[in-house]
Amino acid sequence: MVSAFNEKDNEIFDKIILKRRTYRSFGPEIPPVETINKIIGAGIHAPYAGAAVVSNSAYFRKFFVVDKRSKTMSALIPLFFKEALKMSAELKKAIEINEKLRESAAGFVNRLAMIENLGMVPGVGTAPYFIITAEKKGFPPVEQQSLAHCMENMWLKATALGLGFQLVSITSQMTDNEELCKIIKLKQGEWALMGCATGYPADELSDSIRPSVNEVTTWL
Ligand SMILES: Cc1cc2nc3c(=O)[nH]c(=O)nc-3n(C[C@H](O)[C@H](O)[C@H](O)COP(=O)(O)O)c2cc1C
Repeated sequence: MVSAFNEKDNEIFDKIILKRRTYRSFGPEIPPVETINKIIGAGIHAPYAGAAVVSNSAYFRKFFVVDKRSKTMSALIPLFFKEALKMSAELKKAIEINEKLRESAAGFVNRLAMIENLGMVPGVGTAPYFIITAEKKGFPPVEQQSLAHCMENMWLKATALGLGFQLVSITSQMTDNEELCKIIKLKQGEWALMGCATGYPADELSDSIRPSVNEVTTWL
């Protein structure tokens, strides 16, 4: 049996879970490099699909930190926006002929319309740092699940360090994007990608609000 942490430790752990929120607005102050490294360290310790990637000798998870003030960021902003426009055009076409999709995708269509109006993808250039995480594709193809675990570890650590965190899920669509793969020097199509933005939050959000355990749990 794993030795349990004491009550105080668990109170802190629970507090971090409740404080973890999606921050979409960041202050101008740049967090120290060590803080970002600690967040990445938490991501490295997240679980990975051992059987899917174990035959590869090279390490299978990589992180790319893009500073808001960098030339790389200036290149990424239009690249991500172009991807959002492409997605939006494809979705508009698809919902014209698919009524079911039109209903289920309504929320996402609105989100893409908001991005179109904004002229950029929220999280790419709106926070001090944008971090792209890459996971080598393997078999079975569970890289996105692996990346989700990685993101959650990073998110909780960012929260513990007082930083805001925002997923930028359009990054996951860009595994085949030639220009992005050139910038991060990864072979096109060989890596699954996910992105997140982090920095000090502009305002503090309330704790996470969810249904109670009893409302959503069935014991059998
Ligand atoms: C798979 C996934 C993708 C998400 N993508 C985005 C995104 O691209 N941009 C964003 O601002 N939030 C994104 N979110 C955050 C959710 O909108 C957010 O977690 C949800 O609304 C609950 O809010 P909370 O995180 O503050 O508890 C994503 C969340 C998940 C789980």
